[in-house]
Amino acid sequence: MEVVASPVRETAAVEPGLSSHLRQRIATEFKDRWEKEWKRKFVTHGTAPGPDAVRLDGNDYLSVTGHPGIVQAQLDALRCNREFIVQSGVFQLDGSPTSRFEAQLAAHVGKQGALLCQSGYTANLGLIQVIADAQTPVYVDSLAHMSLWEGVRAAGAPAHAFRHNDPQHLDRMAARHGPGLVIVDSVYSTTGALCPLQEMVEVAERHGCMILVDESHSLGTHGPQGRGLCAELGLTQRVHFITASLAKAFAGRAGFFTLPDELRPYLMCHSYPSIFSSCLLPHEIAGLAATLEVVQRSDTERAQLRRTTQRVRAGFTALGYPIGHGSEQIISLEAGPEVDTLALRDRLEERGVFGAVFCAPATSRNRSMVRLTLNSALTDAEIERVESVARELAPIVKPWDWPIARRNAGARATN
Ligand SMILES: Cc1ncc(COP(=O)(O)O)c(C=O)c1O
Repeated sequence: MEVVASPVRETAAVEPGLSSHLRQRIATEFKDRWEKEWKRKFVTHGTAPGPDAVRLDGNDYLSVTGHPGIVQAQLDALRCNREFIVQSGVFQLDGSPTSRFEAQLAAHVGKQGALLCQSGYTANLGLIQVIADAQTPVYVDSLAHMSLWEGVRAAGAPAHAFRHNDPQHLDRMAARHGPGLVIVDSVYSTTGALCPLQEMVEVAERHGCMILVDESHSLGTHGPQGRGLCAELGLTQRVHFITASLAKAFAGRAGFFTLPDELRPYLMCHSYPSIFSSCLLPHEIAGLAATLEVVQRSDTERAQLRRTTQRVRAGFTALGYPIGHGSEQIISLEAGPEVDTLALRDRLEERGVFGAVFCAPATSRNRSMVRLTLNSALTDAEIERVESVARELAPIVKPWDWPIARRNAGARATN
């Protein structure tokens, strides 16, 4: 008998309605921003990039996406893992592909062990939640990634923000509040600023603090074979914990943190994302393991990325864009108020250059930006296009008048 599928009727779904308290909150906190400033269009959604667009809105710094060796490893793993059981990460046995990859990651950054997590966000949360508590003062760089702050919150620890990249301020705070945990990023995700890591480690040691470094934006791009900034500076043995997202230079969907052997059993019983959320899948592990090999062999791409970074940064600086607070492959065009940032984004996109809008809560209010991220595969023609668009836009958007430029000029005048 032939079965005839009945047509699916599309009806608008009916929802029960939000509480009046929640409605009130949205009206107070968000309505004006949504309706008046954003004109009911989500702020991070610009236009769809065409085939010739120059994409400076991703973090695949070494351009590994689609690498045939990585894709093949994923396909092979998909084909041969029909018996795999999806469980929490804590069930993964020693000798499993997951634990083998964790050992490879740990060896790559020069540490005793590593724990793989579902994302960089959960890596930071799951580690800090365990290594800090209400009696642990935590000193956090004011521009540290949100997941690090959320880890401190999950730990119930007192958070002490120190001025961005200011070891002297950290020193004064640690002298006041005592030994605890210092948290920094190696390369800051919104500005591309490099952490003065040597000085930070020295301050941490002087005050008997542990130090955690989030290497999300330096793993793969910095250090010999992409081993990261701690390795590049010879600081690995003096840093207690390294964490990283594997969604940047590894272009995957995971994260990890390192841990000494003495912490592992305790952590496995206390880190909630590893206990209460499921593990990565075999094809993800296989893809990431293949990516690690590609990353290690990518010296040419790392050198190319560095050259591109220097060239693009020099070009923007000469045109008057105030980007001197950063030095690495992330470039922030901090127009300031959201309306100016959105206008800048639209003008860039009209000319085929696509960055990413960052605004509150990713930046503080009135310090919004279009973030441009560079990668090793950008061609000369693409870089020239970016440079020529920057040149054309400079007299229109007047970057020398942006609030950050005026602040920098004020700071120079008072120094
Ligand atoms: C410094 C830093 N840490 C952690 C994360 C979180 O990584 P993931 O996207 O893998 O959750 C990010 C990503 O935005 C980041 O920039």
